[in-house]
Amino acid sequence: MVGSKTQATTKRGSRLVVVSNRVTPVTARKALAGGLAAGVLAALRDSGGIWFGWSGAVSERPASEPAAHSHDKITYLTTDLSPREFEEYYNGFSNRTLWPLFHYRLDLSVFDRVQYETYLRVNRHLASRLLPYLESDDLIWVHDYHLIPFAEELRKMGVGAPIGFFLHTPLPPADLLVALPRHDKLLRSLFAYDLVGFQTDNDVRNFRDYIQREANGRLGEDGLCTAFGRTIRVGAFPIGIDADDFAALADTPEAVRQRRILEKSVVARDVIIGVDRTDYSKGLPSRLKAFELLLENYPVNRGRVHLLQITPPSREHVPEYGEILAEIEGLSGHINGRFAEFDWVPIRFIHKAYNRRILSGFFRASRVGLVTPLRDGMNMVAKEYVAAQDPDDPGVLVLSRFAGAARQMDRALIVNPYDLSQVADAIQEALEMPLDERRSRWRAMMDDLKRNDIERWRASFVEALQSASAELDRPEETAAE
Ligand code: G6P
Repeated sequence: MVGSKTQATTKRGSRLVVVSNRVTPVTARKALAGGLAAGVLAALRDSGGIWFGWSGAVSERPASEPAAHSHDKITYLTTDLSPREFEEYYNGFSNRTLWPLFHYRLDLSVFDRVQYETYLRVNRHLASRLLPYLESDDLIWVHDYHLIPFAEELRKMGVGAPIGFFLHTPLPPADLLVALPRHDKLLRSLFAYDLVGFQTDNDVRNFRDYIQREANGRLGEDGLCTAFGRTIRVGAFPIGIDADDFAALADTPEAVRQRRILEKSVVARDVIIGVDRTDYSKGLPSRLKAFELLLENYPVNRGRVHLLQITPPSREHVPEYGEILAEIEGLSGHINGRFAEFDWVPIRFIHKAYNRRILSGFFRASRVGLVTPLRDGMNMVAKEYVAAQDPDDPGVLVLSRFAGAARQMDRALIVNPYDLSQVADAIQEALEMPLDERRSRWRAMMDDLKRNDIERWRASFVEALQSASAELDRPEETAAE
């Protein structure tokens, strides 16, 4: 039975129901792709609850009831997508319209009305599949751009429980958002939530600016936003990692074994590591060009460093992803051809995924972590690289100012990824940085990672959702239509 707004309790101990497009059970042997899955899993591991969403499988006739299985304190409810839903909702509107737009790539954002309709329909279907599992005092937490209209659909079905939304990607400025046809309908559907969370203050500012300029909304104290006849709370909740857990991973026998193999294979050379999904937002062509400049401007590095670029496949059915892969392959081939010697190849480009344990070992073995996206909601790799370092002899993080993480990790070497010489200079500075400075930069960042970890993220969002829902509980207000 679904609770009405007045029935919904906000007491501690409400069950947490997490909804995200991709659900990755802890039992899945494959590597987690992307920060969302790792973050949600870590958050749910502590509190327990339900995790509902797409299984990752495509089937001709998806069952109307989700498949359920439990592990530890988490019940996973997953559903397949039909081929058409996969094409139009996932590859289409989510990843060819919203993803590029939200990463400031209006030039790559393609709007197709049919795909948009399918996006709305899939949100409706998913909401109706979750509905029978909901209890009146659940706290529902919806994640990411695939599911913006999810709460609106649940509200239409009579759900009055507190519902929060967290956007893992950036939110671009209003001038870009308005280029999306039907942007008003999409943004309006966010007002069916009680709390809308973003990664950084910058994203919050963009949202508030849109609401003021385009929706004639009112902005109150403490993040209250009123528009479309509804008031919601809005705030920044920068996602963290389980820093201690990741640090411990780097000491596991598997991580140590893989690290030794890597160290042996590079002899005594320094490793510069990059780990990114194959995605144009990650700035990989610019990174490779900056590395080429490093070899050009600082010839001392020839024969002395390796760039280990690990780039797992991602969204391979979306044409722009194939194009970026071809560009990266072309550039690494070119740079290797230009600088390699018979006993040294500068770039090791690997187009496959490794699990987090192995990655933690690779991070520990790398003198420099290179995280240079052109735009990124947060970027968990930056945090994991730092967490995996040896406290006595830590490596140096080179971080793009356009990653949400740069707002917290200001002791990294912060770079503008469009400025290739600046990136090359920062890598050189990282390679030469004295031990004392490496230690003090690392210590400050690690302390912050521990303070603002994934548990704090979960707790602060859930608390804010509970109080937003209690505070906004106005019976005369109905859900956005
Ligand atoms: C980013 C998105 C997530 C997504 C992940 C992996 O982190 O914010 O929502 O799950 O990429 O992408 P995929 O399309 O494979 O789920």
